Amino acid sequence: MCGIVGYVGPQQAQNVVIEGLRRLEYRGYDSAGIAIVSDQAIQTRKKAGKLANLEAELVDSPISPSHTGIGHTRWATHGAPNDVNAHPHVSEDGTIAVIHNGIIENFAMLRDKLIAEGVTLRSQTDTEVVAHLLSKQMKSTPGLADALREVCQVLTGAFTLVVVHADTPDVVVAARRNSPLVVGRGDGENFLASDVAAFIAHTRNAIELGQDQIVEITPNSIEVTDFYGKPAEFTEYEVTWDAAAAEKGGFDLFMLKEIAEQPKAVADTLLGRIDKSGKVTLADLGLDDAFLKTIDKIIITACGTAYHSGLIAKYAIEHWTRIPCEVELASEFRYRDPILTPTTLVVAISQSGETMDTLMAMRYAREQGAKVLAICNSNGSTIPRESDAVIYTHAGPEIAVASTKAFLTQIVACYLFAMYLAQTRGTGYGKDAATVALELSDMPSMIDLVLDTTEGVKAIAKELIDKQSVLFLGRSVGFPVALEGALKLKELAYMHAEGFAAGELKHGPIALIEDGIPVFVVVPPQDDELHDKIVSNIQEVRARGALTIVLAEEGDESINEFSDHIIRLPKCPALMQPLVATVPLQIFSCEMATVKGYDVDQPRNLAKSVTVE
Ligand code: M6R
Repeated sequence: MCGIVGYVGPQQAQNVVIEGLRRLEYRGYDSAGIAIVSDQAIQTRKKAGKLANLEAELVDSPISPSHTGIGHTRWATHGAPNDVNAHPHVSEDGTIAVIHNGIIENFAMLRDKLIAEGVTLRSQTDTEVVAHLLSKQMKSTPGLADALREVCQVLTGAFTLVVVHADTPDVVVAARRNSPLVVGRGDGENFLASDVAAFIAHTRNAIELGQDQIVEITPNSIEVTDFYGKPAEFTEYEVTWDAAAAEKGGFDLFMLKEIAEQPKAVADTLLGRIDKSGKVTLADLGLDDAFLKTIDKIIITACGTAYHSGLIAKYAIEHWTRIPCEVELASEFRYRDPILTPTTLVVAISQSGETMDTLMAMRYAREQGAKVLAICNSNGSTIPRESDAVIYTHAGPEIAVASTKAFLTQIVACYLFAMYLAQTRGTGYGKDAATVALELSDMPSMIDLVLDTTEGVKAIAKELIDKQSVLFLGRSVGFPVALEGALKLKELAYMHAEGFAAGELKHGPIALIEDGIPVFVVVPPQDDELHDKIVSNIQEVRARGALTIVLAEEGDESINEFSDHIIRLPKCPALMQPLVATVPLQIFSCEMATVKGYDVDQPRNLAKSVTVE
């Protein structure tokens, strides 16, 4: 987590850094800080809380103009989210400032050693040890990059470190291991950041850094080496979206904008990948047909919302390819000795491509000899870079912490892969390919229809504002939709919410039903074999006092007498229904959080990209 920005160039560093931090605040908002190099001195300002607090501090206590600066927005791991623990951290003599994303696992040992040597540490963070180690190292290794290289050798864990020194006003140095870092190549200026969003207003030319690399930027140079000083290769690419894509674009909230973008995001993810006959083309997939024909097991691994998309994908994958598919939380996966062979395909789904649990799970799978396919939204991020193959979702930047458009596009990308696999292996699915292609290509306009009728959902949120608990029920692909509805409500409205497979109700959860408890029920299409069963489930909870909010397709009148509220969905086949049924649940949570007065885009305790285990 944490957002990191570095800048060298002719502009006022403070402005560039603060603007970058604003775009990275989604990564953490426990505190923010800045260090600039000016007149052979380092000046820092840092403040607990959101970036606005730092901005106010900069008004009360301005720093000198400067052309070199670094900035940080924090999601706390070591040490409380207060002013002292906010980054940057400086060396005792005040000449070095350090910012950090990640966790230095051996910091306690390093801290104890420094204390034994007489160093006074001011904060409780793992980061501060780096400032002192660097200061010590520079006595024998004078160059900042060289000294950082030496220090990196003694650190374990995950880190992106960005450092400046008072004596080198036009230089910013960074190191990367297991945490994200991109370089922005400008014209007479250069940038460092956790994410291209930080510098997209200045340049679209980005450089992916590899594992265990050091980069030194000046206004006119970018030098990349490994931790041993050897020049390292890097990949340069052009960011395909522009600054406007990372702005609110007239919406009050990023989440509202991203919900509204879903029809386009789904259309963009399908674009050029499927034709009318149902033939799927995945140009950049990177897995050859011979391998695809040998796969005998698929394991999907992911976290949070991405995990829910995997749960949905399982139904399509098994149905169309007849290959057994397991779905596993990435945080559990590598701790249970999973059975992986060269004919296992592991699919790692991640919007950010930086989620540490998913990254560790996919690395583990590769070490065990399995091939890994990444389904990812962030070009050039670590997970796709380290995978054997990738399918990018084309959702565009997702800034709100609550994932919305990424979820729908992950489902679509998984479906495309399942279709491609079935096509390559020549399964019986082939006869349905053209129909499925048509159904999928209809989905953007179906999602549009749902977006046109959101007022009712918002009214329901207002009505339920005082409820303590909300339950969500679904079956088949509707079950992960229920889980996703509950997750959204928890993370945004801080309400107790649970998703259940409706068939499981009678095995325990029905005991939770009491007078007035709201229960959302995702009803499959009328021609689905589970339709009547879930209608019975609605009756069961209503008979026990539940307030039922039923999501059902247009024309399904069978639910009318058992529903307190009905949310209508456009008619579509069961496998496609998650793409429309999820949308009202997103809107419900967003509205609930809004009426409760919560910060929708930056909910408490969370960060968009979870780069720690
Ligand atoms: O970037 P990723 O897709 O790997 O992130 C996974 C989860 O952290 C993420 O989906 C999280 O659950 C969202 N905040 C949910 O809205």
